[in-house]
Amino acid sequence: MTDQGFPAADIDTSNPHPARMYDFYLGGKDHYEVDRAAASNVVSVFPSIKTCAQVNRLFMHRATRWLAAEAGIRQFLDIGTGIPTEPNLHQIAQDVAPDARIVYADNDPIVLTHARTLLRSTAEGRTAYIHADVREPESILTATELHATLDLNRPVALSLNAVLHFVPDEFKPYDLVAALVDALPSGSYLVLSHCTGDFAPETWEKIADVYRRGGIPAQVRSAGEIARFFDGLELLEPGLEVPHRWKPDPGQPLTDVTDAEASFYTGVARKP
Ligand SMILES: C[S@@+](CC[C@H](N)C(=O)[O-])C[C@H]1O[C@@H](n2cnc3c(N)ncnc32)[C@H](O)[C@@H]1O
Repeated sequence: MTDQGFPAADIDTSNPHPARMYDFYLGGKDHYEVDRAAASNVVSVFPSIKTCAQVNRLFMHRATRWLAAEAGIRQFLDIGTGIPTEPNLHQIAQDVAPDARIVYADNDPIVLTHARTLLRSTAEGRTAYIHADVREPESILTATELHATLDLNRPVALSLNAVLHFVPDEFKPYDLVAALVDALPSGSYLVLSHCTGDFAPETWEKIADVYRRGGIPAQVRSAGEIARFFDGLELLEPGLEVPHRWKPDPGQPLTDVTDAEASFYTGVARKP
C-alpha cells in the first residue's frame, strides 16, 4: 500500500503507456526507455507532437478557468487525468474558487503513484482520485470517492481531455460518454479534446500505428466523429474548434500554431 492507502502500483516498463509518452512530450520526467522509444517514433513522423500536447494542455487551462469563473462551476470530474503537470486542473479551478471540488480518474498505475499531488486541495475545497477505466463508466459512477466528494444533484463539469482517442469504436465510446453525461444534472458541462487526422491524415495513421504497435488502443477521429460526442448538448461558442482558437488568451504561449501542428479538436458543451 502507498502512504495514502492506495494499492502499490505495478509499473509495466516493457510496453509504452500513453500517460508516460504524453509526459515525455510535455517535458516531464516520469517516463521510461520504452516510452521514450515509442514517443521518439512519433516525433520522427510528427515533429510538432510536443506543440500538439502543449496546446491541448493550454485548452484545459482555459476551459477550466472559464467554467469556474464564468459558468460558476464548483464541481469537476476529470477522466484520463494524466501524470500531474502544473498547473493541474484543481489548481486552476481552486485559484478561481477555493471551494471547488475535483475528482480525478485514470487507469494507469503511474498516475496512481502520483495521486498525492492531485490530492493537495485547498482547505475549503476537496480533491479525490479514482483508479478506473473510462471504458467502464459504472466503476467511476459508483465509486465511493465520487459520491463523497461531489454532489451529483448539482452541476458538474466532466472533462475527457485527450483520452477518447484511446477508446476505439469497438469499445462503444459514444455510449460510454452518454452514460457519464446521463449521470449528471442539467447545467452540467462536457469538456472534450481529441486528436484528429483531418489536417494530416497519413501522418496521423502512422502515429496511431506507433501506439497500436505498443499495445495501446488508438483511433484518431474526424471533426464530424468528434462532434457526435456532444449530441444532445449545447455546444458553447466557438463550437468544435482547434485548441488555439477555443476562447484564445493572448497572454498564453502558442497562439500562432497551425491547425496541422495542433491536430486536435476541442469543445465545451452544456447539458440542457
Ligand atoms: C494524453 S493523456 C491526457 C492527460 C490530460 N487529460 C490532458 O489532456 O492533459 C491521456 C490520459 O488518459 C489515460 N487513459 C488512457 N486510456 C484510458 C482509459 N481507458 N481509462 C482511463 N484513462 C485512460 C492515460 O493513462 C493518460 O493519463
